[in-house]
Amino acid sequence: MDKKNIDWSNIGFGYIKTDKRYVSNYSNGKWDDGQIIDDDMITMSECACVLQYAQTIFEGLKAYTTKDGHIVVFRPDLNAERLANSAKRMEMPVFPVEKFIDSIEQVVRANEAYVPPYGTGASLYLRPYMFGINPVIGVKPADEFQYRVFTTPVGPYFKGGAKPLTIKISDFDRAAPKGTGYIKAGLNYAMSLHAIVTAHNEGFDENMYLDAATRTKVEETGGANFLFVTKDNKIVTPKSDSILPSITRRSLMTVAKDYLGLEVEEREVYLDEVKDFAECGLCGTAAVISPVGKINNHGEEICFPSGMDEMGPVTKKLYDTLTGIQMGRIEAPEGWIKTID
Ligand code: PLP
Ligand code: COI
Repeated sequence: MDKKNIDWSNIGFGYIKTDKRYVSNYSNGKWDDGQIIDDDMITMSECACVLQYAQTIFEGLKAYTTKDGHIVVFRPDLNAERLANSAKRMEMPVFPVEKFIDSIEQVVRANEAYVPPYGTGASLYLRPYMFGINPVIGVKPADEFQYRVFTTPVGPYFKGGAKPLTIKISDFDRAAPKGTGYIKAGLNYAMSLHAIVTAHNEGFDENMYLDAATRTKVEETGGANFLFVTKDNKIVTPKSDSILPSITRRSLMTVAKDYLGLEVEEREVYLDEVKDFAECGLCGTAAVISPVGKINNHGEEICFPSGMDEMGPVTKKLYDTLTGIQMGRIEAPEGWIKTID
C-alpha cells in the first residue's frame, strides 16, 4: 500500500481530511448496517437536536504502524464501553461494542494510506462520534441519531512535543459534582473554550481545573488526566467522579505497577500538596504523557524539580514503556492491542 505524500514527522495535532469515513444511522429504534462513505459533509435540519441542545458525544483513539509493519489500535474495547456510558447519560442509544470495533476496523482499513509509517512519531487519530439529528424544539432528546468515525493523521498534541508545559489554575469550572465530567460529551468541551482561550492569551499551555464544589482538589485539564510522581517514585492520580476515566491514565497505572514495579495510588489530590510532587504529567490519547514543568496559581509558581528542559525520569520511563507497547517494541498485556489485518 502506497502511503500519502505527507511530511509525517512534522505534522501537529490538526485536521487533515482523509478519503473515507464510516457512518451508521439510528431510526425507529435500531441502527442500520453502517457503511464507509466518501462525503465528509453532513446535511441536517436547522432544528437538529445536536445544533440546538448539543446532544453529541465522542471518543478518541489512535491507529499505529508497529515496528514489524502491522497496523494496530490500542484498547478500542474501552472506547466502546466509554461511548456507551456517554450515550446512557445523554439519553442516546448505545452503539453496540461489536459494531464499534467493526467500524474502527473498516475505517482504518479504508484509510490505510494515511496511517503514518513506523518511526515518524505520528499516528492516525480516530474520532468516533454520535449526535441527535432529527428536529427537536421542546427540550427533549432526539429519536434519530447518526454515528460516524473520521480519521486524521496527527503528531504531538502540544507544540514542542516533549518539552515541559506551563499551565494555570483555572478560575472557571469544567464539571459539576453530579454533572457530565465523567463522560465524553461535546458540551464539556464547549464550556472549556473560553477557559482555554483565556489561558492561551495569558501565555499558558493548558488549564488545571479544580473540583467545582470546594476548589481545593485537582481534577483534570480540558483534554487529559493528571499523573503525579512523588519524591519517592510513587505514582499518584486524582480520583474524582467528575473527571473523564482516561484510558491512557488507566493503562499507565498498569504499566507503572506491572512493568516498572512502582507503587500506584488513585486518590483525592489536594492543590495544597501539588508542590510536594517531583513530576507531573498530562495523560490522554492526544497528549500521550506530556510533562508539566510549572503550574501558576494566581501568580504563585509551583515549579517541579524535573524542570523546564525535559521530561522527568519517571515520566520518561512511563512514556517509553507505553509507546513501546503501542508500537510493538514491548510485549503488551493481553487484549491491549488489536491488529487490523
Ligand atoms: N480527560 C479529558 C477531558 C479528555 O478529553 C481526554 C481525552 O480523551 C482524556 C482525559 C484522556 O482520555 P483517554 O486517555 O481515554 O484519551
Ligand atoms: C483525546 O485525547 O482523544 C481527546 O479527545 C482530547 C481532545 C481534547 C483532543
